[in-house]
Amino acid sequence: MAGTETALLAGLTPQELDSYWMPFTGNREFKRNPRLVVAAQGNYYQSADGRKILDGVSGLWCCGAGHNRPEIAQAVSEQLGRLDYAPAFQFGHPLAFKLAHRLAALAPEGLERVFFSNSGSEAVETALKVARAYWRQKGRPEKSKLIGRVKGYHGVNFGGISVGGIGPNRKLYGTLLDADHLPHTLLPENAFSRGIPAHGAELADQLEERVALHDASNIAAVIVEPFAGSAGVIVPPAGYLERLREICDRHHILLIFDEVISGFGRTGHRFGSDAFGVTPDIMVVAKGLTNGAVPMGATLVRTEIYQTFMEQGGPGYMVEFPHGYTYSAHPLACAAGLAALELFEREHLADRARELAPYFEEALHSLKGSELITDIRNIGLAGALQIASWPGEPARRPWEIAMRCWEQGIYVRYGGDTIQLGPSLVSKQEEIDRLIDTLGRVIGEL
Ligand SMILES: Cc1ncc(COP(=O)(O)O)c(C=O)c1O
Repeated sequence: MAGTETALLAGLTPQELDSYWMPFTGNREFKRNPRLVVAAQGNYYQSADGRKILDGVSGLWCCGAGHNRPEIAQAVSEQLGRLDYAPAFQFGHPLAFKLAHRLAALAPEGLERVFFSNSGSEAVETALKVARAYWRQKGRPEKSKLIGRVKGYHGVNFGGISVGGIGPNRKLYGTLLDADHLPHTLLPENAFSRGIPAHGAELADQLEERVALHDASNIAAVIVEPFAGSAGVIVPPAGYLERLREICDRHHILLIFDEVISGFGRTGHRFGSDAFGVTPDIMVVAKGLTNGAVPMGATLVRTEIYQTFMEQGGPGYMVEFPHGYTYSAHPLACAAGLAALELFEREHLADRARELAPYFEEALHSLKGSELITDIRNIGLAGALQIASWPGEPARRPWEIAMRCWEQGIYVRYGGDTIQLGPSLVSKQEEIDRLIDTLGRVIGEL
C-alpha cells in the first residue's frame, strides 16, 4: 500500500507525517512507506491498514507480559484520577516507596536502594554518576574513568554513548566522557552456540590489561550488559562475568550491570544477574519495569553505596546526591510498575520464559543452513541471527528482511547486521513457529 494511503488510513495528513522527526529511523524511507500501528492486544499489533501483526520483539523488549494488560491500564487510570503528579524533590508519594521496596525485594540480594528515572538512558546516566560520586565521597576523586565494552549499548545520552561500543551511535557527537572499552565477546569459534557459549572467558582478563594501562586508582566502574541486546544478543562465554566480577573486586572497581533488556524474565530468570549467578554493585533496569506502559527507569545500588552518600551528606536537610528528574517516580509510572511487578510474580513470567526457552532455541536454530545466516545466538527468549553483509552496505539486508517480515505479518527488529527476536514471555509455541517460519521463508526468498 502506498505511503500516503496508509497514513490517511491512520488519519494523518502528509504534513503531520513530516513534522515528526522519528528516533533511530530512516525518516525519508519511513515517510514514503509508513508502518503505523494503531492498537495492540496480547502478542499482536494492529496496523493502520487493518492487519494483525505478531509482535516478535515485545515492542522494543519492554512488553514481556503482552500488550494492553487490563491490570496495568486500570492501575494507571485509577492513579491518574487520584494523583496526577507529585513533586519529585523534597516531597514524595506512597507508591514511589512501595515500588522501590518491591523492586528491591525482587532484585538480586544486596541491591536494596532504588533511584528512579524515566528511561534506560537516564538510569544509565544515574548509575555512572553514582559510581563517580561514590569514589569522590570515599575521598578517591581520581577514580573517575569508566570502562564499557565494544558493541555495548547503554542508551543515547552522553555518558551512555561514552561507555557504549556501537560506533554509529557515537561518531557524530564529538568529545565524549573519559572511557575505555573491553573487547566484545563475539568469537568465530562460538558461532551457532546454543545458549551460553563455551569459549572466551579469558576475554574478561582484558580488564586486567585496562587496569595495567590506566591503574585501578583511576577507574570508577565497569559497565556491561549481562548479554548485549542491541548488538544482537551476544551472550557472554561461560565464566566471563564471574571473572569480571573477581577482577573488579580485586581492584576495587564498581561493577554495573545494564539490565534494561536482560531484566524481568528475558533470560528465563528474574534478572541476567540471576541467570549468570553474578551480582553487580549497581544494576540498571527500565523497559519491563512497567511492561512498557509508562516510561520508567531505575538504578539499584548496594546499601553500602547509598550509606556512603548519607554519611557524607552533611546536615540532614542537605541534598546528598544532586541528581534527579522532574518525573522521577512519576505517580503513573509507579502505578504501572507496581501492577507490572504484580503480574510478573503472579504469572511466574520468568519461569514461563524458562519453560518456553528450549522450544524457542530449537526453532531459532532450525534456521541454520541458509548461507545468508552466519551465526545464531540465543538465551532465554532472546535470539538473533547474524546476517551476511551486503557488500559495502551493512544493515541493508537485515532491514530488507525486517520490512518483508512486516509485510508478511510479523514484526522483528534489525540492528546492524542482525535480526533480533524477543517474543513476549507469554508467547505460545504456535507463535514462535510462525515467527520462525516467516523469517525462514523471507530469508529464503532474498
Ligand atoms: C541495555 C540497554 N541500556 C539502555 C537502553 C536505553 O534505554 P532507553 O531507550 O529507555 O533510554 C537500552 C535500550 O534499548 C538498552 O537495551
